[in-house]
Amino acid sequence: MLNTSANNKKSNDLSKLLDISLGMIEKSNLSSLLGFIMEEAAKIMLADRSTLFLIDFDRNELISFIAQKSEIKEIRLPMGIGIAGHVARYGCPVNIEDAYKTPLFHKEVDRQTGYRTRTVLCVPMKNREGKITGVLEILNKKSGVFTEYDTWLLNSFAAFATTAIENARLHEDRERTFLSTIKTLAAVVDRRDHITAGHSERVAKLSVNIGKAMGLPKNELTLLDYAATMHDIGKVVIKDDVLLKPDKFSTEEREEMNKHAQYTKEILSKIYFAREYKDVPTIAAMHHERLDGTGYPYGLKKEQLNTIGCIIAVADVFDALMAFDRPYKKVHTLSETLDILKTEVEKNHLDAHIVNIFIQKKAYLQTFPNIKNRNDHYIDDKR
Ligand SMILES: [Fe+2]
Ligand SMILES: [Fe+2]
Repeated sequence: MLNTSANNKKSNDLSKLLDISLGMIEKSNLSSLLGFIMEEAAKIMLADRSTLFLIDFDRNELISFIAQKSEIKEIRLPMGIGIAGHVARYGCPVNIEDAYKTPLFHKEVDRQTGYRTRTVLCVPMKNREGKITGVLEILNKKSGVFTEYDTWLLNSFAAFATTAIENARLHEDRERTFLSTIKTLAAVVDRRDHITAGHSERVAKLSVNIGKAMGLPKNELTLLDYAATMHDIGKVVIKDDVLLKPDKFSTEEREEMNKHAQYTKEILSKIYFAREYKDVPTIAAMHHERLDGTGYPYGLKKEQLNTIGCIIAVADVFDALMAFDRPYKKVHTLSETLDILKTEVEKNHLDAHIVNIFIQKKAYLQTFPNIKNRNDHYIDDKR
């Protein structure tokens, strides 16, 4: 009879573990994954709380993450301190029936938080190579003490959690590497002309701020960041005598300059983008299109354009008006710039909804903090 109920519990826990591991895969970033792991670990172990520690190998420290009001707070401890530090160093699980009776227990955290730790179960998190990368600690079982079965269950849980964390870190590392590469490329292109220095970065920031003001989801904000950062990358193909010309363009020069949008698409089409970002080349090339179809390079109309492309178009016009000081075209004040944006909406060039949100929510303020008043100009000390 006892065996049957033990078997039932085991198969029940295994099915919960499977659900939890599927939940881990769905988490879009490391911080929400860590919060999810700690919450689910406490639940499945029928315990009061759980803490996850990751090892910072560079500083020889344990970093713990505590969920506080939907935010994950980071606490650092030297390696070897407390139960978690012991498990991180020696790699064996530790099961304690009364924390205050073991010298391993570090009472300082309880003292600071006012919490009273009784039972503790702590297991190492080992990656595929068997290297300890963290520790999972469960505090205060709701009834009784932790058993051998609990150790088995938490070890199994920790194996799933370790793989999920490694994957999330790899994913974030890859995205960070990719983003820093394209930001550098864009900055190099902007730098060819001192007047446009910083343009791509500002357009990316402006675009993301507009996207946030519109409530776009995280994946679309990333798509926006990528496409906006690279929107003018096609300028790399434009010859110096056109790109750097101090005077107004002739018709041929204007035509040549306008080709940069098409070049942007051609260049970006050679880069491998993950499935969710496969539209970056098309979207990045949309920034000079107009809703009425009179833009370039393809003369696309409103129904052929998408929101992300239209956001970049607004950010691009704003930055060009505020920041490009050419002998034949002076920079504009905030008031003049916003009036031009409104005129562009009336002419059916820019999207009314996007421009309205941009103006109402002042989505330019974070990128241009020094233009608070209507008569302010953009000043860049670094130029
Ligand atoms: Fe452009
Ligand atoms: Fe641009």
